Amino acid sequence: MMSSQDISQQFLALINQQQPFILPAYWDYPALFDAIMYQLLCDDRGRMEAYQAVIQRHVNGKKVVDIGAGATLPLTLMSVAAGAEHVYAIECNETAVIQAQQLLNAQQLNDKVTIIQGYSTAVELPEKVDICLSEIIGNISSSEGVLTILQDAKRFLRPDAQMIPLKCLTKIAPIALPPLYQNHFLTTLKAHYDTLITTLNTEKITINRFEFYNFPASHLLANPHLFEEIDFTQALQTESRRNDTFHITQQNELQGFLLWIELNVDAQHLIYSFATTPFTTPHVFKATCWTPIYIPCAPIPVRPDDCLQVQYYIHNRPDKINPDYQINVKIQRNNQIIHDFEINSVY
Ligand SMILES: C[S@@+](CC[C@H](N)C(=O)[O-])C[C@H]1O[C@@H](n2cnc3c(N)ncnc32)[C@H](O)[C@@H]1O
Repeated sequence: MMSSQDISQQFLALINQQQPFILPAYWDYPALFDAIMYQLLCDDRGRMEAYQAVIQRHVNGKKVVDIGAGATLPLTLMSVAAGAEHVYAIECNETAVIQAQQLLNAQQLNDKVTIIQGYSTAVELPEKVDICLSEIIGNISSSEGVLTILQDAKRFLRPDAQMIPLKCLTKIAPIALPPLYQNHFLTTLKAHYDTLITTLNTEKITINRFEFYNFPASHLLANPHLFEEIDFTQALQTESRRNDTFHITQQNELQGFLLWIELNVDAQHLIYSFATTPFTTPHVFKATCWTPIYIPCAPIPVRPDDCLQVQYYIHNRPDKINPDYQINVKIQRNNQIIHDFEINSVY
């Protein structure tokens, strides 16, 4: 049997082949989060280098809370190395906590780091801290529950505390599908997670959005717009509604929407999962563990000068921290609405 490290390496090699392929968005579901996914996170050099640079700049001499610290405590250990006074590492996954505690014992860091087991929304810290550090950003910024989790986390912070990350944008555009690549490795990987879903009897999982690897910008049907803008220094709203209009630029079939992130870890360091034009900002990192998300719809022929009037609705059901997304679409041609439909991507 292949190790998660081997699978991660094979996955990264496949991504580098630049072929467009999709997978169900397994990453949105913590119940499916396993050693393969964790390895992909740790092997994402862009993600690690951006966080490392930002932590080195900001945490020296500071008290830090690391929310969702993970099994190998990467951001906590970067903070200690950067001179943090103390880190409170909160982690809800019991197996990850055991592994993390063993790591701390082995590195004799128990005076520098306190691990707190549980959901951040249900635990307390013994004191207020200067830095709120986390990496619970989804492929759509809010899809892992960051709005609810980080709004709640403000109770851990001193009034002048700093948020790392600082800000996250999700961009959106209507798309046509390119021919999709399929191979044995992808089939095996999909089978692995589909089996995992059937063995979980605690959580009902129906995945209705997809990770899109190597999406070709030629298949965007309009210029990208803003879907969601999260400024972690502000009060975070778990319900929002916005109207938008896309002008179709090519004759093709509308087959859904692509959404992707631009994550400002701090004001200078940016991680992105997809881009249509090169960034001009200085410290920019391409992610491999975040991908654009494809939300499908039934195919509809569109042509230049068609107009998509859309409404985005992002909302949390009372018992969930992961939001549902709704996109209402009206296709307008020659001043007439020729299609009117609703796409739901529920958690
Ligand atoms: C994407 S991983 C990041 C791990 C690590 N911080 C890193 O950057 O590699 C997210 C981690 O956060 C944990 N997590 C998510 N929401 C949490 C919450 N509200 N409280 C505590 N842990 C949480 C998950 O169990 C998972 O280990």
